[in-house]
Amino acid sequence: MSNNIESILHEDRIFKPTADFKSQANITEEKYHALKAKADEDYEGYWCDLAREKLDWSKDFTVGLDDSNAPFYKWFADGELNASYNCIDRHLEEKEDKLAIIFEADDGSVEQYTYKELHDEVCRLANALTAQGIEKGDRVIIYMPMIPQAVFAMQACARIGAIHSIVFGGFSAEALRDRIEDAGARMVITANAGCRGGKSVPLKGAVDAALEKGGDSVRKVIVYKRTDDEVPMKEGRDISWHDAIAGMSNYHDAVMVNAEHPLFLLYTSGSTGKPKGIQHSTGGYLLNAYVTNEWVFDLKDSDVFWCTADVGWITGHTYVAYGPLSMGMTIVMFEGVPTYPDAGRFWQVCQDHGVTVFYTAPTAIRALMKFGDDLPKQYDLSKLRLLGTVGEPINPEAWIWYHDVIGRGECPIVDTWWQTETGAHMIAPVPGVTDLKPGSCTKPLPGIDAHIVDEEGVELTHGEGGYLVVRKPWPSMVRTIWNDDERFVDTYFAMFKNKYYVVGDSAHLDHDGNFWIMGRIDDVLNVSGHRLGTMEIESALVSHEHVAEAAVVGKPHDVKGESIFAFVVMNMEVPPGDERLALVQELRNHVAKEIGPIAKPDDIRFGSNLPKTRSGKIMRRLLRSIAKGEEITSDTSTLEDPSILDQFMQPHK
Ligand code: PRX
Repeated sequence: MSNNIESILHEDRIFKPTADFKSQANITEEKYHALKAKADEDYEGYWCDLAREKLDWSKDFTVGLDDSNAPFYKWFADGELNASYNCIDRHLEEKEDKLAIIFEADDGSVEQYTYKELHDEVCRLANALTAQGIEKGDRVIIYMPMIPQAVFAMQACARIGAIHSIVFGGFSAEALRDRIEDAGARMVITANAGCRGGKSVPLKGAVDAALEKGGDSVRKVIVYKRTDDEVPMKEGRDISWHDAIAGMSNYHDAVMVNAEHPLFLLYTSGSTGKPKGIQHSTGGYLLNAYVTNEWVFDLKDSDVFWCTADVGWITGHTYVAYGPLSMGMTIVMFEGVPTYPDAGRFWQVCQDHGVTVFYTAPTAIRALMKFGDDLPKQYDLSKLRLLGTVGEPINPEAWIWYHDVIGRGECPIVDTWWQTETGAHMIAPVPGVTDLKPGSCTKPLPGIDAHIVDEEGVELTHGEGGYLVVRKPWPSMVRTIWNDDERFVDTYFAMFKNKYYVVGDSAHLDHDGNFWIMGRIDDVLNVSGHRLGTMEIESALVSHEHVAEAAVVGKPHDVKGESIFAFVVMNMEVPPGDERLALVQELRNHVAKEIGPIAKPDDIRFGSNLPKTRSGKIMRRLLRSIAKGEEITSDTSTLEDPSILDQFMQPHK
């Protein structure tokens, strides 16, 4: 990522909101200043007013923020509501025939669901879940392709108060089992397979494999038949989606839950240990999901919003399944990949469905940019009015291409900084108000108290880089790590003794108060916008019978942002030539089996030991330099055996 950062640091172009955009924006200058002023004067009252204005409550709350057990904050704790009711039922009176979901499948076929149809599908499934014994508070794993049924499953869980935990369909059986077990899930909802890039991608087999050697808490598996592939069904445990909803009523009275009732868990990588189950609340989460769609994406009733993220990631939760639906918007869902049948696919989908607001990751923009300007120019993109990015810093070159070629030089670009843990956008432009600088996510949203601090926790004003932190708790913040309160406190609050939520990113401020994200401060990699812990990949490598030790670092990559570079010590002789290449392939496949294909190392180098200090600490800084192909000029005398470096510097032929 350092190349990007270099160019970002020299960026000083400013793009002001156009008069046209300003004149129609949800948030005008005046409203923006009023929001900020209210948040400054009466922080708790500010969020309480928004919660009452934006969401429907079956029981009003009397307390806004409860910080009596900090940092386990609660918001609107004695209020009651239901997320699915807020996303569907409350729109029915006025919008039952409005399209909720436009779905384009991998093969180009299209399905549409109105709000009434969405309601019926979700209610039938909610009744089916109850009939299968799922109760409020039970955990349900969703392991699905990117199809509307994934959203139905999320909404159905929310409707009955079950806690869903989506596992991205690209994760392996092993990774799935870990999550099932940590969550203690009672049910898995899956599909026989998904379709991507013209191929069928099996899913049910991974569920079977995951449950074969564990996952004993699972009682039922619901299987949606997405393709013609036949899959074995286990008697008594597996039931087809079709059979499960047969005869179920399309009426279901949403179960009202406490605002703090967990809406979902989503596992994400940290610098140590296994992925952590980020626990989100119902009321606070939904509030930030709603307001950020209104403020940052400027969504209006006439919009068609397409967020390209899979529901397996937090972006797919907040900007596919919950946020836009809570506002009664029309969303596009797309099953396929950006390059199939060719690299014009995204632009074709935008054209065919009249997408007005489009949200994707810098890695996709960089990949598509490589195919040149002619492809997007073949499509009518004139309906687009706002573009967004998320997941990693965007380099100014990609920003400008996105702006000029996709956005006709007219669409504002909202670079949104946030995380699985924050639930919704935190630092992002408000497009009718904020001046944009390519590469900066600009300013904290009204009510978000983000700062940059030094090692001592002193707030920095501008210039130097420091730790990105958030001082005041906000409604959609992570509530805890499932089953691990201690890890929650250690990971996010211990560094500055509970004074701040510590994000894990470094950033700096410019003279205009804009934030520039510089990268992670921990051992977390960002590969194509996907978050992966180096330690997870190392553990996967050492679980191979012939790997003694492994260290993984990130290497800057011009499309993916970072690629995975592994240094491996084998407990057998490393063979030469083709056999060595086969070994590299075997290790890559082993990681894919343990975690998923997204975690496969791009490079693997072998040595007889890792470069360690005499006290046994692995010198990752040196490994990063080797990965980048840099000459090692720093002092290596503290190394136990400096000759190790030479071994690792040799690429295998
Ligand atoms: O390092 C930051 C980077 O992605 C991390 C969060 O990853 P995850 O929880 O998987 O959520 C990704 C989608 C919200 C952050 O700690 N990140 C996210 N957005 C940006 C970003 N880095 C720079 N600019 C962004 N806009």
